[in-house]
Amino acid sequence: MDIGTVGVMGAGTMGNGIAHVFARSGYSVTLCDVEQKFLDRAVETIANNLEREVAKNKITAADKTAALARIVTTVQQVRLAECDFVVEAATEKFEIKAELFRDLDRICRPEVILASNTSSISITRLASLTKRPDKVIGMHFFNPVPVMKLVEVIRGFATSDETFQTVRDLAVKLEKSPVEVNDAPGFVSNRVLMPLLNEAMYTVMEGVATAEAVDEVFKLGMAHPMGPLTLADFIGLDVCLDIMRVLHAGLGDPKYRPCPLLIKMVDAGWLGRKSGRGFFKYSGS
Ligand code: 3HC
Repeated sequence: MDIGTVGVMGAGTMGNGIAHVFARSGYSVTLCDVEQKFLDRAVETIANNLEREVAKNKITAADKTAALARIVTTVQQVRLAECDFVVEAATEKFEIKAELFRDLDRICRPEVILASNTSSISITRLASLTKRPDKVIGMHFFNPVPVMKLVEVIRGFATSDETFQTVRDLAVKLEKSPVEVNDAPGFVSNRVLMPLLNEAMYTVMEGVATAEAVDEVFKLGMAHPMGPLTLADFIGLDVCLDIMRVLHAGLGDPKYRPCPLLIKMVDAGWLGRKSGRGFFKYSGS
């Protein structure tokens, strides 16, 4: 099936980045969320990020205008019935994604592939809630989506080879580099990354070093572009906690216990860059 129109469910950080890259690559995009204000904010972010690319001569001003014109926003999920492919990028909670997958299975044509941008939740479980488990797959993008090359393509237990090939080809059309992985808590990326961030938080909690010092160690010693605590703030501390909880529950090993400082910070509403405060303070947009 030719894919012309792509539905993106969820207009947060990842959803707007995913809409950005599909629209930039010539796909029509239907971006859906529960409130118009989230959609308006997403379109503003996409316009600003496309403008960065114009400023860097990566795309022209006309490309930017054309990409923005390809995006329509809606609060009505039924509008996703027009789509040839859907990526879900909602909150990282199983119950929320489960309800969405049941809805999408009802709304979308039977031949349409339903992909999830989940960071850690089981593709196999989401697929089992639909009547098309062979057409459910993980398509995991990385933040900032317009910049990061990787797409982790996750095969659920029932994902067909045809679905896998379609999604891998799609990632290439978006100028991304797909990497195949099997379904397991956190897949490869977050199974390895999150314990690193979590352990960095323990070192701060135990007074081994300041947050600044921990980040310096990784920037200067391991050439990471961001230290682990800046990266945790960038991803969102609530997202990090959700992923640690999936790893802890799914793998059943105490080594994945979320750092108590992370739990406290999330309880306090210190969610990182998006809330203005996390391990570091942020001002402005
Ligand atoms: N849209 C478009 N372009 C963007 C952008 C965006 N949102 N954000 C940054 N850019 C571009 C800039 O214009 C710049 O372009 P250039 O190379 O042509 O000059 C380039 O990206 C680098 O940006 P900056 O110069 O502003 O800043 P930095 O050099 O500090 O790079 C960064 C910023 C790319 C975010 C870099 O710090 C980085 O790679 N950090 C690590 C990010 C990372 O690890 N992401 C993965 C997180 S894990 C995840 O997403 C999985 C999830 O499941 C949790």
